[in-house]
Amino acid sequence: MTVDDARALFLAIAGRAPEGVWSSAGRANLIGEHTDYNEGFVLPFAIQHRTYAAVGMHADLRIRVASTFAPDPVELALEDLSIFDGPAGDAVTSGRVPEWAAYVLGVAWAALAAAGRTAADVPGVDIAIASDVPVGAGLSSSAAIEGAVAAALNDLWALELTPLELAKVGRRAENEAVGAPTGIMDQVSSIMGRADAATFLDCRTLETRSVDLGLEREGLVLLAIDTKVEHAHASGGYRDRRAACERGAAAMGVPWLRDLTAADLPRAQELMDDVTFRRVRHIVTENQRVIDTVEALAAGGPRAIGDLLVASHASMRDDFEISVPELDTAVEAALGAGAVGARMTGGGFGGSAIALIPATSVAQVTAAVEAAFAAQGYTAPVCFTITPSEGARRDE
Ligand code: GLA
Repeated sequence: MTVDDARALFLAIAGRAPEGVWSSAGRANLIGEHTDYNEGFVLPFAIQHRTYAAVGMHADLRIRVASTFAPDPVELALEDLSIFDGPAGDAVTSGRVPEWAAYVLGVAWAALAAAGRTAADVPGVDIAIASDVPVGAGLSSSAAIEGAVAAALNDLWALELTPLELAKVGRRAENEAVGAPTGIMDQVSSIMGRADAATFLDCRTLETRSVDLGLEREGLVLLAIDTKVEHAHASGGYRDRRAACERGAAAMGVPWLRDLTAADLPRAQELMDDVTFRRVRHIVTENQRVIDTVEALAAGGPRAIGDLLVASHASMRDDFEISVPELDTAVEAALGAGAVGARMTGGGFGGSAIALIPATSVAQVTAAVEAAFAAQGYTAPVCFTITPSEGARRDE
């Protein structure tokens, strides 16, 4: 899926050429999981898979959205973007808009609010979406849609929002329009990513810094292992983990778990039940691992971060309990086949693992992972290399 697919779909629904095509990237997280909504640290990178939005304005005060992965376009009067003013996720659960369209329409709604504009200030738009970010693979197809649409509307509606503001627009769309209580890592990574680098983000100050990964220099690549176990963040485990973190912070008398360090853990263990304590321990140790990873990269390059990746996976498996057997199998098989490090990436409960491996070992690690899955009787995984790439941009 490319610029041309988005352009062709636009032509099919609008009968004319779009004003332009914008895109934003999927992402993988190198390390720092579930730390974002605890005001902690993350180190994600944008990947080469992208979502494209071909967009054009028209005189009708309507917004129309089509996607190559949904058969029917969805249409709304601009003034009806107010359906998202209600309780989080309500427009979707009440059936007023399909979930996929809420990512797009929710961005339009949140972007206007962020720019201090109303539906009466802007022309109608047609939006055609085409994406090659795998859906349900934990690689943030949702942030890629949000970033592409936010970048397009920012230009066409002359909203003058900064990249960080566009990321916040995406998060708001996801939290309030779609109803998924996620943090801001994915949007920042998708929109602000740089080629060959990861994005260090302090989720308290929202300061970002590009961190050189030096993969090519060291002859390493990152392999994504899509377990094909699908996950959703609007429900279930993700929401529970977030609640446990808030419970843990309240028990410790701090606003966010970011405010704790390893020295606080003995007291935490006395104050809370075992499950909440282990959730807290994951966040506290994971924040430290992000800092350690940034330092290790600077001091020793990517070969120096293998143990941190492995420790992060163990913490997610044992303390935060967001891994699944397929992810554990992927990580173990990759390590057994010579990976420098490996861990699940993203929200968990399915999706993908990443493995840091020698560029010459792609076939060998892929074969080992496939064999391990076959031996367990799991659905065949899909392995592909992911390249740290640039974030949101106008393509034409
Ligand atoms: C999902 C969310 C992010 C983040 C990760 C876990 O990807 O969208 O905000 O919380 O899970 O690190």
